[in-house]
Amino acid sequence: MENKKRFSIITFGCQMNVRDSETMRSILINKGYEEKEPEDADIIVINSCSVREKAANRAKTYVREFKRKGKKIIFAGCVAENEKDRIFEIGADAVLGTRKIHKIDRIIEDLYKDKKIIEVGLDEVPEFDFVPEPTHPVTSYVNISIGCDNFCSFCIVPYTRGREITRSYYSILKEAKELIEKGSKEIFLLGQNVNSYFDNVTGFDFADLIYHLDKDLKGNYWIKYLSPNPRDFSYKVFNAIKNSEHISHWFHLPLQSGSTKILKRMKRDYTKEEFLDLCYYIREEFPDATITTDIIVGFPGEDEKDFEDTLDVVEKVRFEMAFMFKYSERPNTSARKYKDKIPEEEKNRRLQILIEKVNNIIEERRKEMLGRRFTLLIEGKSEKFEGCSGCKTRENIKGVIKGIYEPGKFLIGRVVEIKGHTPIFEFERFTNF
Ligand code: SAH
Ligand code: SF4
Ligand code: F3S
Repeated sequence: MENKKRFSIITFGCQMNVRDSETMRSILINKGYEEKEPEDADIIVINSCSVREKAANRAKTYVREFKRKGKKIIFAGCVAENEKDRIFEIGADAVLGTRKIHKIDRIIEDLYKDKKIIEVGLDEVPEFDFVPEPTHPVTSYVNISIGCDNFCSFCIVPYTRGREITRSYYSILKEAKELIEKGSKEIFLLGQNVNSYFDNVTGFDFADLIYHLDKDLKGNYWIKYLSPNPRDFSYKVFNAIKNSEHISHWFHLPLQSGSTKILKRMKRDYTKEEFLDLCYYIREEFPDATITTDIIVGFPGEDEKDFEDTLDVVEKVRFEMAFMFKYSERPNTSARKYKDKIPEEEKNRRLQILIEKVNNIIEERRKEMLGRRFTLLIEGKSEKFEGCSGCKTRENIKGVIKGIYEPGKFLIGRVVEIKGHTPIFEFERFTNF
């Protein structure tokens, strides 16, 4: 069966999925399978995202497309966990849930035995200690927890990834150390709600975790983390960041809505004022901070006044970047019970207004960068700007620098121009990190 050796993985969704795809890829490569472009592969692994209906549908479209081309299809990820029967109906050969990805090699062996393969369920604690080869030249992802206990009323994640399980400090340290030794320059600590981290063995909370990683991991690298819940930030976390050498001053604070009434319905557990106070505190204590966010418009019951509250927070915080979404009703979630749904056209209208406002602010923010110096990490050759390298600031703003530099180099660059939302840097000198 020579031809069963070629696979391709298509990944949707968040960094959790990117990391899971890296794990599946490394397991298969270790077993002698060969990675190919989808067109040249015999086995397609689709790692799906379920967070909005559109994303889930896109993954399903791929099943149909590759089935027509005669490929074997393993459907993995968040949609797999929730919609396994539907996935078989549309032609997948195997369904692999989020906590079963380590079984990918065994599943592939069964693929040609002509039976339905289902591996789902959220009861299992996944094997944490497998360290995949990173697929990005300088960035790697380390899970500090999986699953989520928050049950925000719009969100499907607790149903696709199960209850929160945190990983022990020593296991995280070991993996991060290995990745840094292999050349990673930027470690992303991943969890659906990182600042609810608690390790029973060491008694470490999230602040202790980042404080100790910063001290215990030697070398030139940055630590970033995704996603914190605005509700769970503590002064202890801020102090750990302040007293660290490697932890980025990038704060991704998913707002979701600026209206206290809607936040309550979303079960987010903070108010508009608490969110603003958190941002004002960060702006004051970390003058170089980047604050980014996620926003949902058109949640059931969101009236014009609620939407204006969202716009008001956007104006007051002046986010450096925002991911903006129309509310999408998801299976199992408690927000399904609300009857006062917002019509699609109205959601579109609000989204357009929001995007325009955010874009204007981002443009202003970028202009404020002109002439300033930033510590940069080189990611690789820029695709869009000839003779330039892609880079990002320590505070996670993407840009390009004139000249070709080796991926993984840290340097100081000065902003000389802004093109769209992209700052263009000029080299000043090399630095450690
Ligand atoms: N754990 C992360 C969120 C993961 S989902 C956190 O709490 O920040 C990423 C983003 O998708 C969310 O922040 C939210 O803005 C958006 N999202 C989640 N469910 C959604 C839904 N039903 N409709 C629209 N957007 C949604
Ligand atoms: Fe979803 Fe809320 Fe958990 Fe984030 S914190 S994954 S939005 S339930
Ligand atoms: Fe999507 Fe699952 Fe991540 S639903 S956002 S891939 S946790």
